[in-house]
Amino acid sequence: IQYQIAVVVGSLRQDSFNRKLASAIVKLAPSAFAFQQVQIGDLPLYNQDDDASPAETVQRFKAEIAAADGVLFVTPEYNRSIPGVLKNALDHGSRPYGQSVWAGKPAGVLGVSSGAIGTAMAQQHLRNIISYLDMPTMTQPEAYIHAREGLFDEVGNIGEGSKKLLQNWMDHYVAWVQKHVV
Ligand code: FNR
Repeated sequence: IQYQIAVVVGSLRQDSFNRKLASAIVKLAPSAFAFQQVQIGDLPLYNQDDDASPAETVQRFKAEIAAADGVLFVTPEYNRSIPGVLKNALDHGSRPYGQSVWAGKPAGVLGVSSGAIGTAMAQQHLRNIISYLDMPTMTQPEAYIHAREGLFDEVGNIGEGSKKLLQNWMDHYVAWVQKHVV
């Protein structure tokens, strides 16, 4: 394994389409890449008063991101933005001031939604945040995925209809990470 990628899923739902997408798309990467979903559901609500004594879950989360060569965000859209749980995780990783774990990590942004615009607004909001956090983020290709019948096959892999698009996305993300990790 040459590259470790932390996968951050913006949904806590048991049967989350985004979690399924995250689990399926990583199978399209070459074997030099290892992907690990990082838990965010156990993080407390961010409170600046806790900066000096962060919870164990916060320390674990930050260590996992810090150890990764890149970050893959796979998020639903909630009310035309990212879910609060994801923003909470982003805030945790960014603090205390000067000790952000995000800076410099090559990022990819993906999302699937039941709505017609396939998380476009959420992805744009996320890009705004991670740009501020100094994450070099792949801009093309984009992938706005609509949750529909056949998106996944019966064993949870990407279905035939979306395979070409998502393989192309992953090929570019792999190259993006390789370009930014020295
Ligand atoms: C949604 N959903 C949604 N979809 C969308 O395309 N645009 C939106 O703004 C919203 N807003 C929204 C708010 C809230 C609070 C919920 C619970 C849902 C629908 C959303 O796409 C759908 O529930 C997905 O299945 C969520 O992703 P996961 O949990 O399946 O990964």
